Amino acid sequence: MTYSRIAGTGSYLPQKILSNADLERLVDTTDEWIFARTGIRQRHIASEGECSSDLALHASEQAILAAGIDRHQIDLIIVATTTPDRIFPSTACLLQHKLAIAGCPAFDIQAVCSGFVYALATADQFIKSGAAKCALVVGAETISRITDYSDRSNCILWGDGAGAVILQAGEEPGIISSHLHADGKYNELLCVSGGVSQKESKPAIQTEGNAVFKIAENTLDAIVDETLGANGMEKAHIDWLVPHQANIRIIQATAKKLGMGMDRVVLTVDRHGNTSAASIPLALAVAVRDGRIKRGATILMEAFGGGFTWGSVLIKY
Ligand code: UT7
Repeated sequence: MTYSRIAGTGSYLPQKILSNADLERLVDTTDEWIFARTGIRQRHIASEGECSSDLALHASEQAILAAGIDRHQIDLIIVATTTPDRIFPSTACLLQHKLAIAGCPAFDIQAVCSGFVYALATADQFIKSGAAKCALVVGAETISRITDYSDRSNCILWGDGAGAVILQAGEEPGIISSHLHADGKYNELLCVSGGVSQKESKPAIQTEGNAVFKIAENTLDAIVDETLGANGMEKAHIDWLVPHQANIRIIQATAKKLGMGMDRVVLTVDRHGNTSAASIPLALAVAVRDGRIKRGATILMEAFGGGFTWGSVLIKY
């Protein structure tokens, strides 16, 4: 039996920081409100001309180095992004070119904040089936480009960044299981106004935050049960929760469900904000780099996002 395992992680954050104090100058809000309701203090913002593929490149180079592979070994590239550089070619193809490799399949996945979980689960299927041996899986976002900085209901949430992993074939897991879901009937609760087919001159995120919040909390509660149940595991078997970083109160609810102290939850939302598809690989890379996550740890990753989409990946690191 072939499994896939994470061989290396990488991350990148643009230099510019947008603090809550900066946002106080843009909209009617306060640092106290933002921090109390979301757990966010600051987020990073890509500079003009810096695109999702540029952020993805930095994160990928770090992951390649950490995995100790030659980039030419990569035989699959998947980029999860809601904010591709262009409508086409895919950001994955642009990244492939920037990495100066060619030939392997490269494509984007669009599942908004659940994008990285979807991408990791997809790469896992390629590896398990023998179609790939060494995949580069990236979450990269310049979500600031579709943020309306006059809309206080959600402009305080978003940040830019990228995270990447190298996923390699191995004889032991690795990825233990993945669980993906979607329900399009909720599409209007968290969406971008228009796009290509449905024309809109300046697309921007619109959300009914409180409704999204409640559904996210309940749905993530259920995905914990589904993931543990599918593997006959107990809550105590999970060493680390690496959640999508949307809102600290949602993360606290999932940790409570798992009976976990917050000291076993990787939190980046305070410094990164919600970086959509990039948030999980960014958080994973941070905790691997600072030594908290070690080889052999059992990690639950979970996410919820526009669509709605949601999912989890359970791994032995
Ligand atoms: O990553 C994908 C999934 N996304 C999520 O899961 C996001 C889920 N939603 C959230 O994180 C939260 O719902 C928000 C942070 C977006 C909003 O927090 P909330 O506690 O749900 O606030 P609310 O929308 O219920 O608004 C409460 C009050 C309202 O005022 P009134 O009607 O009580 O007078 C809002 O007008 O807070 C007001 N408000 C603000 N006040 C200061 C809304 N935005 C702001 C703001 N600053 N930025």
